[in-house]
Amino acid sequence: MLLLLFVALPFILIFLLSKCKNGGKNTLPPGPIGLPFIGNLHQYDTLNPHLYFLKLSKKYGKIFSFKLASAQVVVVSSAKLAKENVLVAGSDTSAAATVWAMTALIKNPKAIKKVQTEIRKSVGKRGIVNEEDVQNMPYLKAVIKEIFRLYPPSPILVPRESMEKTILEGYEIQPGTIVHVNAWAIGRDPEIWENPEEFIPERFLNSDIDYKGQDFELLPFGAGRRGCPGIALGVASMELALSNLLYAFDWELPYGVKKEDIDTNVRPGITMHKKNELCLIPKNYL
Ligand code: HEM
Repeated sequence: MLLLLFVALPFILIFLLSKCKNGGKNTLPPGPIGLPFIGNLHQYDTLNPHLYFLKLSKKYGKIFSFKLASAQVVVVSSAKLAKENVLVAGSDTSAAATVWAMTALIKNPKAIKKVQTEIRKSVGKRGIVNEEDVQNMPYLKAVIKEIFRLYPPSPILVPRESMEKTILEGYEIQPGTIVHVNAWAIGRDPEIWENPEEFIPERFLNSDIDYKGQDFELLPFGAGRRGCPGIALGVASMELALSNLLYAFDWELPYGVKKEDIDTNVRPGITMHKKNELCLIPKNYL
């Protein structure tokens, strides 16, 4: 009995500790209690997940959570929440990309000068950059592509499941295998990109490579039927936000901070956000 307790104790402790994360405050939606390590895997109905989800949503509500081994799953079963989810997918990604753009530009004074000159020459003293202006800014567009290459806001695409047996690089991939595509790694692949770790927007000036899912070297929005349906809105929001920030202000580093001090560490999560806040000082241009 004592031996059993001795063996079980670490598992019980890990389980209790995982429950106590966030100071005991549960920020997840409600859901069935799982077992240590396997979570709710033993209850999951792989053949009819939609029926299993329906059963749980009747018990726990339109948004509930459960665990499949170490993976935390959240299920949404209401039109209102699905809509909210889509909006979060849209605003979060564009905002993350805009912060990455400002980060890369402040670390590259030549590039920020060049893009600001392009924007200010084109807009003059009108006071605001609009959607039509942006269409005549090839360098700004190249900057945005370079940001998507180096800092894709969704670095791992939506997981795919193979439907039939496939051969990839000589390996047999069985039906039902989950496949993850790492868009971040593709964007930094030295077999595709020259000096892949460097921020060089010029590489896109005389190149046909685009981010719309046709060129597999650059997949910030994924590709195929699961590709992002919000490309146009995402790009337009980013172009407008970034161009207006660069147009209206000159940006300086806080006193005593060097551009080398600005880090590019990443916060954990589905969307790749800059971990530490980017702190810059705006000086009015107009
Ligand atoms: C810079 C902005 C954005 C980026 C980088 C981005 C990126 C992505 C990526 C990589 C995927 C997965 C595609 C795949 O696996 O093939 C995706 C899916 C999705 N995106 Fe975006 N997105 C952005 C903006 C938006 C906007 C503005 C909306 C909606 C208003 C949106 C809605 C969605 C939805 C609903 C999906 C899921 C599609 C599915 O699973 O079938 N995204 N996005």
